[in-house]
Amino acid sequence: MNTLLSESAPSPSEGSGEPDEVTVLTIRGGRPLRGRVDVKGAKNLATKAMVAALLGESASVLRDVPEISDVQVVRSLLEVHGVTVEDDGEGVLRLDPSGAVSAHMEEIDAHAGASRIPILFCGPLLHLLGQAFIPDLGGCRIGDRPIDFHLDALRAFGAIVDKLPSGIRLSAPDGLHGANIELPYPSVGATEQVLLTAVRAKGTTELRNAAIEPEIMDLIAVLQKMGAIISYEPNRVIFIEGVESLRGYDHRCIFDRNEAASWACAALATDGDIFVAGAKQQEMLTFLNVFRKAGGDFDIAEDGIRFRRGGALKPVVVETDVHPGFMTDWQQPLIVALTQAEGVSTVHETVYENRLGFTQALNKMGADIVVHPEGIASPDRRVPRRALEQAAVITGPTPLHGADVVVPDLRGGYSYVIAALAAEGESIIRNVDIIRRGYEKLFDKLAALGADFSVAG
Ligand code: EPU
Repeated sequence: MNTLLSESAPSPSEGSGEPDEVTVLTIRGGRPLRGRVDVKGAKNLATKAMVAALLGESASVLRDVPEISDVQVVRSLLEVHGVTVEDDGEGVLRLDPSGAVSAHMEEIDAHAGASRIPILFCGPLLHLLGQAFIPDLGGCRIGDRPIDFHLDALRAFGAIVDKLPSGIRLSAPDGLHGANIELPYPSVGATEQVLLTAVRAKGTTELRNAAIEPEIMDLIAVLQKMGAIISYEPNRVIFIEGVESLRGYDHRCIFDRNEAASWACAALATDGDIFVAGAKQQEMLTFLNVFRKAGGDFDIAEDGIRFRRGGALKPVVVETDVHPGFMTDWQQPLIVALTQAEGVSTVHETVYENRLGFTQALNKMGADIVVHPEGIASPDRRVPRRALEQAAVITGPTPLHGADVVVPDLRGGYSYVIAALAAEGESIIRNVDIIRRGYEKLFDKLAALGADFSVAG
């Protein structure tokens, strides 16, 4: 295995952080969405499992991989590092890391601009190459999204971190060793960083205040298939015993509960009836409770969940949180449905500091949403909340009408699609490619559900 990372290439190209194409979606709304959609593997597991393949000494097979641009970004980054990726065109990827070759900084940068996943290459690359270069990170603009937890964890494993204008260079001249780490917040990405680094580090790692999202548990399952020894306690503590080597895995991704929740909210907002094949109850318990309280009804079947209204929509008070709380990625489509509920709803966003900006465009479409950037909790409440909290107060029902809007980020963008489908008249949604980062075959699915739309660009 040739494992040199070359930085001798010409200066890095600019990663724009945005897709190149600018597709415009025109929706003629006012029709309920009815029918069936299939959800595949979770974006937030598939991309991480693909990175894990770098750690194996033999090829890995990943099944149910969604056809989304975030998967393409990770695939390109793996290929830049010499991993052979074969796609059978039906959601099965074969990832062979045995021919890893040198990667130029400019290549890494060119392929990474639109995603935050590259930060997770750190541990595997340090094990493989002894060094890593991670370009400036993209991803959705939903707050500062710092990487301090990641870098602190990598330092605890013995990595040396140099911040450059173009990105971050890491090295581990003495190899990586097990560490005792407590995260300041149960960050999903930082937990994955620790897992992907600790499995091959020398000695044992104890991670406290870890994230325990179902996608993280599925990543642990992937790593265990590869030969890792990982155990956890219910109080957010994960123990990893480092091993000398890992092999490839064969794994079917956990389903995408964010996409499932999105279609559920589309049924609620448009007064439709959608069967989401592949959705499972267990990972969506918290969502289903809120869906029911907001006036939704659902039937759990062996192969999916059927979502529809159970009567008039009702206002709810929701606080986003880490698992098992209500996910921050669920609030955007829910807010669209809440514009049609009779009364005042409140959504507190506690995970990100700036993830309610998308509501401005909903107001342009007729919604009545007031965002309180500092939150609305009293500062002397007995149980303190995170300083980051923001709150949206949604007063309904407000009829929605068509508007011309620009997609700001993945989940916000999807919520514009639902709002346009629920609205009377025509809406123009620009920059719709961002939505394809996380929603596969969006246009095919909209067509299957009877939406009236056209696409240009
Ligand atoms: N944070 C820090 N420092 C760090 C890392 C995180 O302060 O070093 C903060 C963040 O700024 C944020 C909070 O911790 O306020 C939570 O961030 P976390 O690390 O948990 O999020 P992430 O790993 O960057 C993943 C998903 C997000 C999802 C969050 C929360 C991926 C690729 N992204 O992000 O998904 O919202 O966990 O569940 O897995 C999406 O799918 O649209 C999406 C944004």
